[in-house]
Amino acid sequence: MNQNLRIAVLGSGTGSNFAAILDAIHARTLRAEIVLALTDAPTSTFLTLAQNDHLPTAVIDCGPHPLRTTDASQQAIHDHLLAARPDVIVLAGFMRILKDPTLTTFADRILNVHPSLLPHFKGRHAVRDALASGQTTTGCTVHLVIPEIDAGRILAQAPVPILPTDTEHTLHTRIKQAEHTLLPQVLSTWPPP
Ligand code: GRF
Repeated sequence: MNQNLRIAVLGSGTGSNFAAILDAIHARTLRAEIVLALTDAPTSTFLTLAQNDHLPTAVIDCGPHPLRTTDASQQAIHDHLLAARPDVIVLAGFMRILKDPTLTTFADRILNVHPSLLPHFKGRHAVRDALASGQTTTGCTVHLVIPEIDAGRILAQAPVPILPTDTEHTLHTRIKQAEHTLLPQVLSTWPPP
């Protein structure tokens, strides 16, 4: 690709995956620009990272219930994304379920990073569930987003060992380290074959 990849990133939390994308852009291992950093969390580190880099941001009030994002909020997210004209949209710890119209408008252009080796351990407690399973390996997955949660086409995965001494926090920290390599890699070879 000759031009910079136009990336929109959606996040709600610490934004470490967003930081990994920014680092790759700054290091020029990823030829890209952030055209929008959108969040539902006005006090998140995710938003601070974007503001520190003077990137275009949007804060959407998605309502008080994390599992019930209003239709008006879904429309607002869509409209902000449309205006930003991204080549690809990255869900990097976005704690809302994205629905239409965004999923239809941007079909095959929305990525999620999930802290397990999908199809194992779907859902919000992937790290806790992996730890409780007694297995010795988990990992992370970058996949396309479709209406069914954590079920879109898998683009890349990386394994992470589960250590006998692991807590949910230590295991998630190591999984995130793997995510920080995997996600920029997928973006640097966008679009996927
Ligand atoms: C990551 O573990 C990702 O897999 C999951 O949410 C977490 C986001 O972390 N979807 P961060 O905000 O990027 O630090």
